[in-house]
Amino acid sequence: MGEGKKATFSADYRMTAKTLFGLEEVLASELLKLGAKNIEKHNRAVSFTGDKGFMYKANLCLRTALRILVPISTFKVKNEEDLYNKVKEIDWEKHMSVHDTLAVDCALNSELFKHSQFLSQKTKDAIVDQFRDKHGKRPSVDLEHPSLRISLFVYKDTCIVSLDSSGESLHKRGYRDKTNLAPLNEVLAAGMIMLSGWEPHLSFVDPMCGSGTLLIEAALIAANIPPGYYREEFGFERWKDFDKELWDTIVDGCLGRISSRDARILGTDISRNVARKAYENVHLAKVEDTVVVKTSGFTDLEAPAEKGTLILNPPYGERMDSEDINALYKSIGDTLKKNWKGYDAWIITSNMEAVKHIGLRPSRKIMLYNGPLECRFLKFSMYSGTKKIHKLTDQKSKI
Ligand SMILES: C[S@@+](CC[C@H](N)C(=O)[O-])C[C@H]1O[C@@H](n2cnc3c(N)ncnc32)[C@H](O)[C@@H]1O
Repeated sequence: MGEGKKATFSADYRMTAKTLFGLEEVLASELLKLGAKNIEKHNRAVSFTGDKGFMYKANLCLRTALRILVPISTFKVKNEEDLYNKVKEIDWEKHMSVHDTLAVDCALNSELFKHSQFLSQKTKDAIVDQFRDKHGKRPSVDLEHPSLRISLFVYKDTCIVSLDSSGESLHKRGYRDKTNLAPLNEVLAAGMIMLSGWEPHLSFVDPMCGSGTLLIEAALIAANIPPGYYREEFGFERWKDFDKELWDTIVDGCLGRISSRDARILGTDISRNVARKAYENVHLAKVEDTVVVKTSGFTDLEAPAEKGTLILNPPYGERMDSEDINALYKSIGDTLKKNWKGYDAWIITSNMEAVKHIGLRPSRKIMLYNGPLECRFLKFSMYSGTKKIHKLTDQKSKI
């Protein structure tokens, strides 16, 4: 579809970028930097306006977006039948042909309806029936790899039908092959790094690196590599109006801004096997020139530079007894005090009991979700002198 078309300018339209809880602010600032207009924050989403080229760019470049949705119809809905009829009124031939395949996702926040799957089904029925009525033939369903992914959002009695321009969720970057236990979602990892305020000229350390997600996301940020660089495909590439020439221009422009910045990123893990897999992922992501991976227990690790940011995603204790997990968190606190003066240390965990054993007071607490687990992302500022001296130096540098 769309092959050989000339690049055209298109009008601005409204879009919604979906994200994870707690990353709305970061996503809004990413959008602002990228050139989005009329940005508005919502719960787990940010809406904005831009043209078709901007939609391509948002998919390629946003680190904290899960999907970019393009709304095509908003209406009030009373019941399932009403939904069916209103979806059938949309001119689907503008967006797909009878030979295409479709999938419908539904997010439901309404007392009028109970089952999101039933609403997806009704929506799909309305679309295929429209084609059957007109052509005697219907498009088929492909839940895995459809030519058109449709998103339905029902809030109270309002229904928004959107086209999902991303296809597969954008957290599926395409660089990771080997996963160890409990890898972080890539969007969450990127969001955590951005929330930490890490500046790429300073050192970045993940001392419990697992599959290496934080290391790779940090390397991508440092070199300005678009997170979508490794993806084989985005949903919009299969759309009827896909503009290959425009897409190529966008990709060339973004790849042209990749820099060979000399970042210092260190990842370690206590397990040799895990560290080896993390290195393989770093290699697959082609960032081995900026990332070093070693085998080491956190207590034995020394800071590689005087200043920097350290992010820890330790075990939360689901597979450990409470004595062991508390002891692990105590050793984290002791090691931070001893070896990491001058660093901003951030820890994400769902285990608020174990956190008490760190023995340090966090200066910031941010609520995030790691999958279904409600977590806190905690900042511990490891001052190099006493807090008082640090404050004085801060003031001096402002004068
Ligand atoms: C929850 S996983 C980290 C997942 C990682 N962020 C990712 O995206 O794949 C925790 C990791 O900490 C490592 N670990 C546990 N105790 C450690 C210690 N004392 N020192 C270093 N690594 C440790 C484990 O081997 C495991 O790989």
